[in-house]
Amino acid sequence: MEKVRLKEEAIQELIRKALEARTYSYSPYSHFEVGAALLSKEGQIFTGCNIENAAYTPTNCGERTAFFKAVSEGVKEFSAIAVVAGPAGDLEELPMGAPCGVCRQVMMEFCDPKSFQVILAASPEKYEVYTLEELLPRGFGPKDLEG
Ligand code: THU
Repeated sequence: MEKVRLKEEAIQELIRKALEARTYSYSPYSHFEVGAALLSKEGQIFTGCNIENAAYTPTNCGERTAFFKAVSEGVKEFSAIAVVAGPAGDLEELPMGAPCGVCRQVMMEFCDPKSFQVILAASPEKYEVYTLEELLPRGFGPKDLEG
Protein backbone atom coordinates (compact mmCIF):
# COMPACT_ATOMS: atom_id res chain seq x y z
CA MET A 1 0.00 0.00 0.00
CA GLU A 2 1.39 3.36 -1.06
CA LYS A 3 1.52 5.84 1.79
CA VAL A 4 4.15 8.16 0.40
CA ARG A 5 3.07 11.70 -0.32
CA LEU A 6 3.64 12.73 -3.93
CA LYS A 7 6.64 14.89 -4.69
CA GLU A 8 6.05 18.62 -5.00
CA GLU A 9 6.76 18.61 -8.78
CA ALA A 10 4.25 15.80 -9.37
CA ILE A 11 1.62 17.67 -7.36
CA GLN A 12 2.26 20.87 -9.29
CA GLU A 13 2.06 19.08 -12.64
CA LEU A 14 -1.32 17.63 -11.66
CA ILE A 15 -2.57 21.05 -10.60
CA ARG A 16 -1.45 22.59 -13.89
CA LYS A 17 -3.29 19.85 -15.81
CA ALA A 18 -6.41 20.43 -13.67
CA LEU A 19 -6.24 24.18 -14.39
CA GLU A 20 -6.01 23.44 -18.12
CA ALA A 21 -8.99 21.06 -17.90
CA ARG A 22 -10.97 23.73 -16.05
CA THR A 23 -10.80 25.92 -19.15
CA TYR A 24 -13.05 23.33 -20.88
CA SER A 25 -15.70 23.49 -18.13
CA TYR A 26 -19.20 23.51 -19.63
CA SER A 27 -21.09 25.39 -16.92
CA PRO A 28 -23.59 27.81 -18.50
CA TYR A 29 -25.99 27.43 -15.55
CA SER A 30 -23.87 27.66 -12.41
CA HIS A 31 -20.93 29.55 -13.95
CA PHE A 32 -18.83 27.54 -11.52
CA GLU A 33 -15.86 26.00 -13.30
CA VAL A 34 -14.16 22.83 -12.13
CA GLY A 35 -11.10 21.01 -13.45
CA ALA A 36 -9.54 17.80 -12.26
CA ALA A 37 -6.45 15.74 -13.04
CA LEU A 38 -6.38 12.11 -11.93
CA LEU A 39 -3.08 10.24 -11.61
CA SER A 40 -3.14 6.49 -12.18
CA LYS A 41 -0.79 4.17 -10.32
CA GLU A 42 1.04 3.62 -13.61
CA GLY A 43 1.60 7.35 -14.05
CA GLN A 44 -1.04 8.25 -16.64
CA ILE A 45 -3.00 11.46 -16.10
CA PHE A 46 -6.72 11.68 -16.95
CA THR A 47 -8.28 15.13 -16.91
CA GLY A 48 -11.89 16.15 -16.50
CA CYS A 49 -14.14 19.19 -16.24
CA ASN A 50 -17.70 19.66 -15.05
CA ILE A 51 -20.32 19.24 -17.76
CA GLU A 52 -23.72 20.76 -17.04
CA ASN A 53 -27.07 20.14 -18.66
CA ALA A 54 -30.26 22.12 -19.28
CA ALA A 55 -32.13 19.40 -17.36
CA TYR A 56 -29.72 20.03 -14.44
CA THR A 57 -29.54 16.52 -12.93
CA PRO A 58 -27.47 14.97 -15.75
CA THR A 59 -24.64 17.33 -14.75
CA ASN A 60 -21.33 15.57 -14.22
CA CYS A 61 -18.67 16.91 -11.88
CA GLY A 62 -15.09 17.44 -13.05
CA GLU A 63 -13.74 14.74 -10.75
CA ARG A 64 -16.16 12.12 -12.00
CA THR A 65 -15.48 13.04 -15.62
CA ALA A 66 -11.81 12.24 -14.99
CA PHE A 67 -12.64 8.94 -13.24
CA PHE A 68 -15.07 7.84 -15.93
CA LYS A 69 -12.63 8.68 -18.71
CA ALA A 70 -9.97 6.54 -17.01
CA VAL A 71 -12.21 3.59 -16.16
CA SER A 72 -13.69 3.60 -19.67
CA GLU A 73 -10.14 3.18 -20.96
CA GLY A 74 -9.41 0.25 -18.68
CA VAL A 75 -7.56 2.08 -15.90
CA LYS A 76 -8.85 1.42 -12.40
CA GLU A 77 -5.98 2.04 -10.00
CA PHE A 78 -5.19 5.54 -8.88
CA SER A 79 -2.89 7.41 -6.52
CA ALA A 80 -4.06 11.03 -6.54
CA ILE A 81 -6.40 13.65 -7.96
CA ALA A 82 -5.96 17.41 -8.14
CA VAL A 83 -9.08 19.57 -8.15
CA VAL A 84 -9.43 23.26 -8.99
CA ALA A 85 -12.78 24.99 -8.71
CA GLY A 86 -14.23 28.44 -8.63
CA PRO A 87 -16.63 30.90 -10.22
CA ALA A 88 -16.01 31.84 -13.85
CA GLY A 89 -14.27 35.12 -14.55
CA ASP A 90 -11.10 36.80 -13.46
CA LEU A 91 -10.39 35.97 -9.86
CA GLU A 92 -7.37 37.00 -7.87
CA GLU A 93 -7.26 33.53 -6.40
CA LEU A 94 -9.34 30.38 -6.72
CA PRO A 95 -11.08 29.21 -3.57
CA MET A 96 -10.02 25.71 -2.47
CA GLY A 97 -13.15 23.77 -3.36
CA ALA A 98 -13.52 20.24 -2.04
CA PRO A 99 -15.12 17.38 -4.01
CA CYS A 100 -18.84 16.81 -3.48
CA GLY A 101 -20.11 13.74 -1.65
CA VAL A 102 -21.02 11.90 -4.84
CA CYS A 103 -17.48 12.32 -6.19
CA ARG A 104 -16.01 11.14 -2.88
CA GLN A 105 -18.16 8.01 -3.16
CA VAL A 106 -16.91 7.37 -6.71
CA MET A 107 -13.33 7.73 -5.41
CA MET A 108 -14.20 5.18 -2.70
CA GLU A 109 -15.08 2.66 -5.42
CA PHE A 110 -11.64 2.69 -7.01
CA CYS A 111 -9.18 4.07 -4.47
CA ASP A 112 -7.62 3.01 -1.20
CA PRO A 113 -9.02 5.56 1.28
CA LYS A 114 -5.88 5.49 3.42
CA SER A 115 -3.44 6.30 0.63
CA PHE A 116 -5.36 8.02 -2.19
CA GLN A 117 -4.46 11.70 -2.12
CA VAL A 118 -6.90 14.48 -2.92
CA ILE A 119 -5.17 17.74 -3.74
CA LEU A 120 -7.33 20.83 -3.36
CA ALA A 121 -5.63 23.70 -5.13
CA ALA A 122 -5.92 27.43 -5.49
CA SER A 123 -2.79 27.49 -7.70
CA PRO A 124 0.28 25.30 -8.32
CA GLU A 125 1.86 27.02 -5.32
CA LYS A 126 -1.09 26.96 -2.96
CA TYR A 127 -2.74 23.66 -2.20
CA GLU A 128 -3.77 21.25 0.53
CA VAL A 129 -3.43 17.46 0.42
CA TYR A 130 -5.90 15.11 2.11
CA THR A 131 -6.33 11.36 2.05
CA LEU A 132 -9.68 10.11 0.82
CA GLU A 133 -10.28 8.75 4.32
CA GLU A 134 -9.95 12.26 5.75
CA LEU A 135 -12.61 13.51 3.34
CA LEU A 136 -14.85 10.46 3.65
CA PRO A 137 -14.38 8.89 7.08
CA ARG A 138 -15.76 5.37 7.51
CA GLY A 139 -16.81 5.32 3.87
CA PHE A 140 -18.76 2.50 2.27
CA GLY A 141 -16.94 0.71 -0.51
CA PRO A 142 -16.52 -2.57 -2.42
CA LYS A 143 -14.93 -4.27 0.62
CA ASP A 144 -18.15 -3.82 2.58
CA LEU A 145 -19.91 -6.13 0.16
CA GLU A 146 -17.40 -8.92 0.70
CA GLY A 147 -19.19 -10.01 3.89
N1 THU B 1 -18.98 20.52 -9.23
C1 THU B 1 -17.91 19.76 -9.58
O1 THU B 1 -17.56 19.63 -10.77
N2 THU B 1 -17.24 19.11 -8.61
C2 THU B 1 -17.57 19.16 -7.29
O2 THU B 1 -17.03 18.40 -6.51
C3 THU B 1 -18.55 20.15 -6.83
C4 THU B 1 -19.45 20.68 -7.88
C5 THU B 1 -19.71 21.21 -10.31
C6 THU B 1 -21.10 20.70 -10.54
C7 THU B 1 -21.75 21.92 -11.16
O3 THU B 1 -21.45 21.93 -12.54
C8 THU B 1 -21.04 23.09 -10.51
O4 THU B 1 -19.83 22.58 -9.98
C9 THU B 1 -21.84 23.78 -9.41
O5 THU B 1 -22.25 22.86 -8.46
